[in-house]
Amino acid sequence: MNRYQGVIFDLDGVLCFTDQYHYQAWKAVADQLGVYFDQTINNRLRGVSRMDSLEIILERSDRTFTTEEKEAIAAQKNDLYRQLLHNMSPADLSDEVKSTLQVLRAAGLKLAIGSSSKNTRFILERLGLGDFFDAISDGTNITRSKPDPQVFTMAAEFLGLAPEKCLVVEDARAGIEAADAGGFDSAGLGEAADFARYPMKSFGELKDICME
Ligand code: G6P
Ligand code: MG
Repeated sequence: MNRYQGVIFDLDGVLCFTDQYHYQAWKAVADQLGVYFDQTINNRLRGVSRMDSLEIILERSDRTFTTEEKEAIAAQKNDLYRQLLHNMSPADLSDEVKSTLQVLRAAGLKLAIGSSSKNTRFILERLGLGDFFDAISDGTNITRSKPDPQVFTMAAEFLGLAPEKCLVVEDARAGIEAADAGGFDSAGLGEAADFARYPMKSFGELKDICME
């Protein structure tokens, strides 16, 4: 018996690890602007949209930027980031993630993505998962960022399922808050484990969480 009918996965930090690429791209941009940036600040960007990430980075700047300047900085970061994403390949998908996704699908669960990233489809293609998911809700179809539940609510709609029939899998606190606000149960990895209904140490635990 399945406890849920659908699972909605965050992408970065759950299915794959793009933190270092985000860091390298933001670091290059921050250095050019003469703004201090380090790994601790980078950790605050998890699950946060691109423009909101830039606002966090610019907290350390002593000058202000116009909207046009901010858009140009974000575009420059994204160009660098996408170049780095070319390093990703299906080898970056762990055997544990791959086999767990297959088990969940074989059990009849619908599988979706719920990510703030506008690069979601590109990353899924790099991982060899371009055609795998039943639905994708990402930064391109939302107007409000996590902790707002919109990205998950739309993923559930795309699957044709009510929120209470879906489990959200997250690595960021803002993502668990979004799941709670939308009426979804949540499973958390990393820092999100402390806030989720089901704290997890590894991805494979989803099999026991989803199936009784
Ligand atoms: C994910 C990542 C964030 C990133 C956001 C937007 O949520 O965890 O670190 O800022 O996506 O990514 P994007 O690819 O659209 O710049
Ligand atoms: Mg994440």
